[in-house]
Amino acid sequence: MDVRREKWDGRYATGDLPWDTGRFDANLATVIAEWGIAPCPVLELGCGTGSNAIWLAAAGFDVTAVDISALALAQATTRAAEAEVSVRFEEVDMHHGRLPKGPFGLVFDRGCFHSSDGPEEHALCVRNVHDSLGPQGLWLSLIGSTDSPPRDGGPPQLSAAQIVSYVEPLFEIRLLKATHFDSNQPEPPPAWACLMRKREDTA
Ligand SMILES: C[S@@+](CC[C@H](N)C(=O)[O-])C[C@H]1O[C@@H](n2cnc3c(N)ncnc32)[C@H](O)[C@@H]1O
Repeated sequence: MDVRREKWDGRYATGDLPWDTGRFDANLATVIAEWGIAPCPVLELGCGTGSNAIWLAAAGFDVTAVDISALALAQATTRAAEAEVSVRFEEVDMHHGRLPKGPFGLVFDRGCFHSSDGPEEHALCVRNVHDSLGPQGLWLSLIGSTDSPPRDGGPPQLSAAQIVSYVEPLFEIRLLKATHFDSNQPEPPPAWACLMRKREDTA
């Protein structure tokens, strides 16, 4: 078992899941509504226990959701069945595995892209997302932000400049909004909501 898989499975095994509110993130619903994103095939990266995938499926999207953790996916599968929605869950390493075959109209991730390890893995993730999207495809990523006082723990943090440098070669940035992760914690972690459109004119 590789180290990354072991790390994430360990967190799901012990319930060390501060990000897991048990409900969809309001930033997702806001962007879908404000940008008029109609139901389409959607891929969620790092879906965890499935809250956002389930909300998307209930909203009429055709949802495929991946995670590196088999334990997370087992919980997500149970929750989707309880919610009586259909989601295809797959165990995939989004960096080093093969993403499900698209083309997708929308890719969504909450706190998965930002967990990439350094510039090379961020670039790999951006390339994989680009390849999975169809023409005009959109990617909404909720990303931990550096715009907060230094602290121990919490989500990885990227600056706006880092996000731009990673995604701009392959995506037009349509929205880069300072927000917070929807959270059950007293001080919700600051985040970026970054909505991107796939560039077609790339090698
Ligand atoms: C911070 S959690 C967020 C989970 C979920 N998106 C949510 O909001 O509840 C990050 C998730 O990404 C998954 N993950 C981390 N690296 C991954 C990779 N390389 N491929 C697929 N999933 C990954 C983890 O297992 C974990 O479920």
